[in-house]
Amino acid sequence: MADLVKVTINAQQFEVEKGARLIDVCREKGFAIPSFCYYADLALQASCRMCLVRIEKMPKLQTSCTITCTDGMVVTTQSEEIEKAQRGMVEFLLANHPLDCPVCDRGGECELQEMVFDWGQLEERFTERKNYYPEKYLSPIVANDPQRCILCKRCTRVCDEWMGEDAIEAGGRGSHTVIGTYGGWLNCSQCGNCIEVCPTGTLLDATYRHQTRPWELSRTTSTCTFCSDGCQLSVGARAGEVMRVVARDRYVNGHNGEFLCIKGRFAHPFVNHEERIGTPLVRYQKGGRLIPTTWDEAVQFASRRMREVTDAHGGRSVGVVGSPRLTNESNWAMLRFAREVLGTDKYTAAEAFSLAPFFENLGAPLATHRDIRHARVILLVGGEPEELQPLTGRQIRQAVRNGGAKLVIFNSVPIRLKEQAAQFVHIRPGSEDAAALALLSPGDAETAARKLGVEADEIGRASQLLSEAEGDVVVMFGGELSAEAQAALAGLPAAFGEREGRRFLFHPLPLFNNSVGVHDLGLMSGALNPLELLDAAGSEVRAMYVAGSFLPAHLEGREDALSKLDFLVVQELFHTATTRAADVVFPAASFAEVDGTFTNSGGLVQRVRQSIPPVHQSKPDWAITSQLASALGTDFGFQMSSSNIFLEIASGVPAYAGLRYPLLKDESNPVQARHALARGGDAAGRLDALRRAVGELAEAGEKVAGTPPVGHELFRLGTLTDKVPQFHLLAAGNPEPRSVLISPLYQITVDPGLRREAAAGD
Ligand code: SF4
Ligand code: SF4
Ligand code: SF4
Ligand code: FES
Repeated sequence: MADLVKVTINAQQFEVEKGARLIDVCREKGFAIPSFCYYADLALQASCRMCLVRIEKMPKLQTSCTITCTDGMVVTTQSEEIEKAQRGMVEFLLANHPLDCPVCDRGGECELQEMVFDWGQLEERFTERKNYYPEKYLSPIVANDPQRCILCKRCTRVCDEWMGEDAIEAGGRGSHTVIGTYGGWLNCSQCGNCIEVCPTGTLLDATYRHQTRPWELSRTTSTCTFCSDGCQLSVGARAGEVMRVVARDRYVNGHNGEFLCIKGRFAHPFVNHEERIGTPLVRYQKGGRLIPTTWDEAVQFASRRMREVTDAHGGRSVGVVGSPRLTNESNWAMLRFAREVLGTDKYTAAEAFSLAPFFENLGAPLATHRDIRHARVILLVGGEPEELQPLTGRQIRQAVRNGGAKLVIFNSVPIRLKEQAAQFVHIRPGSEDAAALALLSPGDAETAARKLGVEADEIGRASQLLSEAEGDVVVMFGGELSAEAQAALAGLPAAFGEREGRRFLFHPLPLFNNSVGVHDLGLMSGALNPLELLDAAGSEVRAMYVAGSFLPAHLEGREDALSKLDFLVVQELFHTATTRAADVVFPAASFAEVDGTFTNSGGLVQRVRQSIPPVHQSKPDWAITSQLASALGTDFGFQMSSSNIFLEIASGVPAYAGLRYPLLKDESNPVQARHALARGGDAAGRLDALRRAVGELAEAGEKVAGTPPVGHELFRLGTLTDKVPQFHLLAAGNPEPRSVLISPLYQITVDPGLRREAAAGD
């Protein structure tokens, strides 16, 4: 229990934690303190001097953001003296600030504007000419109006401390100081967090600029549809169109605060994109064209053909494929369709790798992103969170920089996070399993070291860091680990033994927004995985029903597998290699058009909320599945309500027992699924299996040199990001335009080559 001290604030006495920051304590106790530069969990700046308070026995007014609470402290937060000083500060801030709120995108949600209403002078006494700088673009994503800056430096600190990029900095002197880039053009990960935390209209979302005013938008809190971090976001929509996505409209003390990455924040234009599949499509004859039709006709056609296949070959001849992209509710409907309508055990999800071996042997609870931030030691085997799970990347960096955590990395690529690592073990490509074996079994360290291409004492040092940790040890792993290694690594806590003061937690790094959800529902434990299902197409498997699409990696080398099927039904947003082989395509609704839940990599079950009506004739995936089931004679009883489906999930999936939508509504207090821990089991058998897998690894091979550039995964064009012009510029190397004063998108017009073909399936 932390030491408590007594402080008096505005004549009221409180017991607070010794060393707590005064500004936080005052706010927590209900005393308003204005501030610009203070930002929780960032390095202190103490430049705006808005947070002034009077502290007894201290000679001058003090900045409450820099003061920590001590016993007997007597504080006054409001007085004529304090207010006069604060009004003076606002007056200075406005000395060079243009009063152009009516044309500023931040107008209506600007912290400076609000502060002026609360603390400003009615008349400006400065008559000097204000500084002026032209508006410009810093990148295809970030627009800049330099004269609006109040130099709070939230942007530069966020870029440095959250992103580790240090891509923007204050330049110039005195009243001519402005925020800018090194070299004029931002070659960063384009997360937009500097835009989000900017309290003024200085840094602006270039993709949304001048399109709407904030008060015209409906705002819906939902969950990101891209990676497994599951960031909470606010979808701003107008007249059925998603106009922007931000984090700041919501409570900001939840899972991800104001953090989002480029995909969560800027990839939303796919939702209302003109290439969305608008109506059901039917291919009446093999080799014919997909022809638009009505829902009734398409459902009847699909059910008739599905019935023909099952009559001829049995229900087990049909494969059912859910998606780690879709909600738990939609995947549950697919599972019920497989089991109840078809009676097939050939169900799976189009997932990059299965977490089943890990969860089946889970030896410790999952770590939430908050746990990562407060971990003492973080072990990362494989993976590249900064590119594939950017919030996890931020949490790791802050745990190290702001929390003093020790980071141990085993990776074949010198990823950017190695700069934060207490120990970076540079291993051979494909040898990640050996890293797991070395940590689990010191007796195998010599053999493992040879496979890894490292000295055995490097493994010893890593083991020692884990073994001596005081506090939480978070173990993370990427998709490089084999099933054997996943299963064995899940037993790491037992291998290290229990010790007072040390707790092991796991944080897997799957690739998709609902990868953990599809596992929890049981969709990954069908008889065949996606590759096996495709290999069986045309023989054991005669038809398939796919929600979403196969990943490009699944179809590589199996390009003609789908064409071997007698019948293929697909529901999708856009045409993909999977829909192009389909006999029936149903238009599916995107995450912005549906209600449901996703389960993130920390096991948080989070709400997805409908922000706009379904685009064109699309429907939620679960509604389509339910309609098809009904045409085949099974009533799922969903009554067109996703909450009814979630009730079923809560009673059918032990980890979700007792959960209800109302319990998931407070995003500042997220709910974690209770994944059962494996008790005992055959640890020796799992280790033996891993030993055999490692035994087959080569003991030679070149190591990867050089750190990959920022964005090499983030900017990769997939089915969804392909619909966003800015991603095309970034994927093409983010060329600096000839003029930064006009939109960089003109480059796509003058050089159509910058708009590349979609490369992958996200
Ligand atoms: S977009 Fe992100 S990485 Fe780029 S400058 Fe802003 S905060 Fe830094
Ligand atoms: S650009 Fe915005 S966040 Fe950055 S220093 Fe200026 S006002 Fe602050
Ligand atoms: S980190 Fe992941 S969940 Fe968060 S905004 Fe980015 S893609 Fe979405
Ligand atoms: S908030 Fe304390 S000085 Fe800016």
